[in-house]
Amino acid sequence: MSLKLGVNIDHVATLRQARQATYPDPLAAAELCLYVGADYIVIHVRNDNRHMSEKDLARLCKAYRPYMHLECNFSEKMQKMALKYKPASVCIVPEEPGEVTTTGGLKFTPKNFDRIRAMTEALQKKNIRVSLFVSPDAASIRTAAKCGADIVELCTRDYSEATTKKAKEKCLRDLALASLLAKELGLEVHAGHGLDYENVLPVADLCGIGCMNIGFSIIARAVLSGLPNAVSAMKELL
Ligand code: PXP
Repeated sequence: MSLKLGVNIDHVATLRQARQATYPDPLAAAELCLYVGADYIVIHVRNDNRHMSEKDLARLCKAYRPYMHLECNFSEKMQKMALKYKPASVCIVPEEPGEVTTTGGLKFTPKNFDRIRAMTEALQKKNIRVSLFVSPDAASIRTAAKCGADIVELCTRDYSEATTKKAKEKCLRDLALASLLAKELGLEVHAGHGLDYENVLPVADLCGIGCMNIGFSIIARAVLSGLPNAVSAMKELL
């Protein structure tokens, strides 16, 4: 099975919202990513709509539904939105007010377990595949399986933020064991958060991982690698 890449294009919308402009357009970004081989387009619609909005989801699902992977929290509001636009898959993630980015995997409690399981079932009934974003530990993986998820996305934040070789190796071992357990429980395994051009390969090499979801590092690189063309085009005009 070849390793798939989901490109998270949230930060195209972050740039657009910095000017409350109409560009750069996430739809154009999705088209470019798919054209050069991205397997999925990932967007995270947050309650504060600070980058992607419901309107973006609507436009992207209309054009590229089979490739669309939505990240959202497990509120009734987000469930309703996902059911309205029907992306191919949804990753349920935690959301803390004011967070700069997702801070980690779902922290299951008896109360949110019932909500997450209900949302999982409601989405699956409409043929939307459900992924749960979890920390790479056995308890989280087992709970995700009990929720009836199709996929677990292993949170690589601890790995990407580890500062010593020893800490990185420990994180990789945790990811490897989590991946094996998830496969054993019949789950598809994805991974993401904080992955970049320097740290991605050891995770990509782990057994069982089918898809990597990567955003910030790709968009950040695109800004710099696109700058020479953008400046040359303006100079030519002048
Ligand atoms: N996967 C999930 C569940 C996320 O919440 C995020 C960040 O939105 C990513 C992957 C992508 O992380 P990054 O932008 O750091 O590559």
